[in-house]
Amino acid sequence: MKPKIIDGKATANTIKAEITAEVLKMIETGVKTPHLAAILVGNDPASETYVSSKSKSCHEVGFISSLYKENENISEKELLKLIDFMNNDEDIDGFIVQLPLPKHINTQKVMDAISPLKDIDGFHPVNLGRMLMNNPSYLPATPYGIMLLLERYGIETEGKNCVVLGRSNIVGTPMSVLLSRNANPGNCTVTLCHSKTKNIKEICAQADILVVAIGKPEFVTADMVKNGAVVIDVGIHRVDSSTTKSGFKLIGDVKYDEVAPKCSFITPVPGGVGPMTIAALLLNTLKAAKKEFSF
Ligand code: GUN
Repeated sequence: MKPKIIDGKATANTIKAEITAEVLKMIETGVKTPHLAAILVGNDPASETYVSSKSKSCHEVGFISSLYKENENISEKELLKLIDFMNNDEDIDGFIVQLPLPKHINTQKVMDAISPLKDIDGFHPVNLGRMLMNNPSYLPATPYGIMLLLERYGIETEGKNCVVLGRSNIVGTPMSVLLSRNANPGNCTVTLCHSKTKNIKEICAQADILVVAIGKPEFVTADMVKNGAVVIDVGIHRVDSSTTKSGFKLIGDVKYDEVAPKCSFITPVPGGVGPMTIAALLLNTLKAAKKEFSF
């Protein structure tokens, strides 16, 4: 089977162009420019990369972006004070606190302190609860980006057997909720697999739609995939390579070369889910700027 490659980069670019057009309209009508702020604590290189690519994307669509870079040793109290400032600053439409946070800070306490109306990551319990109940809310960016890919590629989800690998708060768990909600895309029969799951290979092989967010390079092999399945790969790992100039390459949680020929649709790594996460975050920021929610 020749799979259709789900081009996340192209879809994200289309969404960014749509957002840019909206921003221009907002500016023309005297509405203020959307503003996304980010708090980055410490100097974790991966977090620095994520935050700078979010900021770059903001500028591409005409948003204002600001970065609050804090020392690794910031106290929890100081961080909560900064969040309180951002919650009340009318110029900031939405903000994120880049994770992970240093160990001396209680991440849940920090997430709880963010105003749900400015929580464009969709990590606050109010947003997560509203998502669970199929009420309008900010959706976590990676699952939201995947739902947009399913929608824009016209992939039928209703009544499908869907298997999600990984139960993180950021990806696997919200993904399982979104796919099982009574919505379109949605209405799947979902199985959520995790580290204690037995017969994971057999369960994966039953999936019409397989979402892999397990964080293990090339974990999913061809024998785990049904013919004609849709495979969404959330993983991204940098590994050494003798075949590239840079000396490294990016791979996913799926062994792409052997799995792709069995699929109807598959996301590549890079260029699949990654760019859509940022596009989804931009869409959440636009919703925040338009004050779409009033809970
Ligand atoms: N760290 C890894 N992914 C994310 C994300 O989506 N949002 C935030 N705030 N931190 C992260």
